[in-house]
Amino acid sequence: MTSDSRSLQSSAVINEAVQTLREGGLVAFPTETVYGLGADAKNLEAIKKIFTTKGRPSNHPVIVHLAAPDIFDLAQVDWVPVLAPWVRDISEDALKLINAFWPGPLTLVFKKDKSVLNELTGGQDTVAIRAPAHPIAQELLRKFKGGVVAPSANRFGKVSPTSAADVRQEFEGALDLMILDGGDCEVGIESTIVDLSSGDRALLLRPGVITPSEILAKTGIKIYQPGEIQVGESAESFPRVSGSLRAHYAPTTPLRLYASGRVLDALSEFPDTKSRVAVAVWDSESALGHDGHPSVHFEEVLVSSDSATFASRFYRLLRDLDRQGWDLILLPEPPEGEEWDGVRDRLQRACFGSGPSSSNHANN
Ligand code: TXA
Ligand code: MG
Repeated sequence: MTSDSRSLQSSAVINEAVQTLREGGLVAFPTETVYGLGADAKNLEAIKKIFTTKGRPSNHPVIVHLAAPDIFDLAQVDWVPVLAPWVRDISEDALKLINAFWPGPLTLVFKKDKSVLNELTGGQDTVAIRAPAHPIAQELLRKFKGGVVAPSANRFGKVSPTSAADVRQEFEGALDLMILDGGDCEVGIESTIVDLSSGDRALLLRPGVITPSEILAKTGIKIYQPGEIQVGESAESFPRVSGSLRAHYAPTTPLRLYASGRVLDALSEFPDTKSRVAVAVWDSESALGHDGHPSVHFEEVLVSSDSATFASRFYRLLRDLDRQGWDLILLPEPPEGEEWDGVRDRLQRACFGSGPSSSNHANN
């Protein structure tokens, strides 16, 4: 965040946003991960508006965002009354995870309370919940006194927004949207999603900056990867996660990954020689010093080799490069290691869905 963007929206603006939500309108707001497109989780018409605005299929569930309890003495925080209206039962493990990571970039999937609208769960009997850490999100939620559904504030399948300007650009001309400005998102990629709804094993549905090792270290809870659950065991009931589609988070400029030192190999995938190529290079490495591909004009863009810093700037980088009119964007393959899983996941989907043609956009 820049210093001026740290300044909070005034109370009057947040009150207006609360009023808009109460009247069934949409409000885009900052979270620490990405900006969300918010609506009252109890208002069916408002939820429908979210789906049509994003162009999101109605069977893809959304996350309910809740305010943290008022008392901020962590030892005394009691999350049970906050969750009780939304979920059927709250296990010991759920409370351990919540106490360790909320408010923060961790979403938990529970068996839903019967009052939770099927339209927000994609017809499933589970509900995804998180308490975001961003102070503006928290103030909005506290004043609203209810759950706010908020998918990322982008059109379905496209790059998630990490600033108020990104959101504006995403829906420009399409709708007059109230946007709360909280500066640039610090985390930069969407929350980690852990499914607790089976009651026994906790399953990772979407990697994020909170990793299974960090969860294990802080809570003693083992988080299973989808591959660790045997086929047949959960295939039928496997929850739909829209970010799990192959093409997602995608820019319109073709995007490819290159293995270390292999920029030219990546280019060979594009036989009609591309004339302008943006090549991202780790800031820890010396410049590319690319040897001759005579007709290609490379330009280097330095990217952080620290996973958290890379994540915080990743969508910004994609949006900026996408706007600059390159013929091709090459990004370095992320290193091995769990701390890169969240970024790797988004990168692979962004590559698969990238490009001006819609042929790869299975989800659009
Ligand atoms: O960081 C985030 O989580 C951001 C900010 C705005 O909070 N939100 C976000 O929302 O990423 P969205 O809608 O773009 O992604 C939510 C993901 C989807 O992949 C959805 O399928 C999954 O959560 N999800 C929601 N409810 C679920 C459920 N009951 N079971 C399994 N997955 C669920
Ligand atoms: Mg999204």
